[in-house]
Amino acid sequence: MPLHQDVLWYKDAIVYQVHVRTFQDSNGDGIGDFPGLEEKLDYLLELGINAIWLMPFFPSPLRDDGYDIADYSTVHSSYGTLEDFRKLLGSAHDRGIRVIIEMVLNHTSDQHPWFQESRSSKDNPRRDWYVWSDTNTRYQGTRIIFLDAETSNWAWDPISTSYYWHRFFSHQPDLNYDNPAVREQMWNVMKFWLEMGVDAFRLDAVPYLVEREGTNCENLLETHEILKELRRQLDEHFPGRMLLAEANQWPADLRPYFGDGDEFHMAFHFPLMPRMFMGLKLEDRKPITEILQQTPEIPPSCQWSLFLRNHDELTLEMVTDEERDYMYDMYAQDKTMRLNLGIRRRLAPLLNNDRRRIELMNGMLMSLPGTPIIYYGDEIGMGDNINLGDRNGVRTPMQWSGEWNGGFSAADPEHLYAPLIQDPVYGYPAVNVLRQKASEHSLLNWMRSIITVRRSTAVFGRGSIEFLYPANHRILAYVRRLGNEAVLVVNNLSGTAQAVELDLRRYKGNILIEMSGQNMFPRVGDQPYLLTMGPYQFYWFRLRRV
Ligand code: GLC
Ligand code: CA
Repeated sequence: MPLHQDVLWYKDAIVYQVHVRTFQDSNGDGIGDFPGLEEKLDYLLELGINAIWLMPFFPSPLRDDGYDIADYSTVHSSYGTLEDFRKLLGSAHDRGIRVIIEMVLNHTSDQHPWFQESRSSKDNPRRDWYVWSDTNTRYQGTRIIFLDAETSNWAWDPISTSYYWHRFFSHQPDLNYDNPAVREQMWNVMKFWLEMGVDAFRLDAVPYLVEREGTNCENLLETHEILKELRRQLDEHFPGRMLLAEANQWPADLRPYFGDGDEFHMAFHFPLMPRMFMGLKLEDRKPITEILQQTPEIPPSCQWSLFLRNHDELTLEMVTDEERDYMYDMYAQDKTMRLNLGIRRRLAPLLNNDRRRIELMNGMLMSLPGTPIIYYGDEIGMGDNINLGDRNGVRTPMQWSGEWNGGFSAADPEHLYAPLIQDPVYGYPAVNVLRQKASEHSLLNWMRSIITVRRSTAVFGRGSIEFLYPANHRILAYVRRLGNEAVLVVNNLSGTAQAVELDLRRYKGNILIEMSGQNMFPRVGDQPYLLTMGPYQFYWFRLRRV
């Protein structure tokens, strides 16, 4: 099917998140770029992914790695030219790979010309594009997000001698969405990239668009109205394109971002992610089943997006204080690993580089309801570098080989945008793509095969879920169903062997076919179905009536 005709494509997607600058440097300046990424598209194709999400690549002073945008209408010169981006987009599309780009609506860099004008005088026509105040006391009910860096959501601007509002770093002033000119401009920005052919946007920090006195300034009705208007425009002019919400909120507050299927197509399931890590440590399915039970139904055209790790700290905003303490104790004993309300580590080190746990977590990522997102480098088990500040420790160069700079760049190592991981366990001589390609049982090859199995049926991306509650609480089991198809997933969350009896009466007469080896397991009869499972083992079974 031609790419644009399949309007629900995002339901069947396997997304790969990557920052252009981290992936491949084509011109030896030490910074990854569009031509470099383009060269590596075949690697991604082989891995089995069919969408990439690119972090912001716009001109920026890079004080928040590009989330501080200084110009929305072109690309950062370190990454190449606009023409290079167009070429990358074309090459991705030629391979059936969709391209999701980042759109930061909530704020700009303080270096953006709009802000420069806005601050220049109180009667500048752009004055009202940002949120100004004579005092720093408005909107007191609003939390601070970057707790380790900021003490207020207001910052003093000496040039215009007033305060401006910012939900993130103080160099990221919030745009004023009460101003129709701002709303129109931001749609124009989106239109520019849509006309070029991008398939989707991850809309950054969407809960914070509008401020109102006496509220916490998050998820306001006025904000939803603005987002719905963007969606209306999108559907009218660019059917088949997609909007993905970054709204780090509880399930009940997340639900409105889908509207009646007229707001976002997708939203990250932030509350689920930490509970997968909790379930694993507690060896108990409860954190996972509980949060999914509390997750409201979403409209049929909508989809959750699931992830284990991303470019930010592993956020612990959507857990209780007790749960957060537990997560810190279990996953970030060393306090330097903590940042804001989260943990700044990669997947493999979080799981003590235990291959069984890495596989189990990825198995859940690929079989729970939603579209999985893989963070670059996690497919080979890359490590992190907590000596780099902020979240930079999880954004080090991709490790392609054991050669010079891990095959990432021909530059002198001193010129790299960030040092490669070098330690004996996770360093590029030990952990790299080339080596893992050559080794049959590598994590990379395992990832490739599980993605193939996942993509062999639409049931994982589109099907319903029904939990089984066997007496053994260390086992997380569910049936995914779509039409006549049914897949039984059984996960052993514990580090020891387990037996489990499953109530499969409603599938009596079916045989089980284990999906990775296509081998048959006994037919379901009247008795509870007995399975034995090794430590951290999981199974995907196709249920088939024969
Ligand atoms: C989002 C991004 C994060 C960024 C912040 C401010 O949360 O994921 O990386 O710092 O927005 O733009
Ligand atoms: Ca470069």
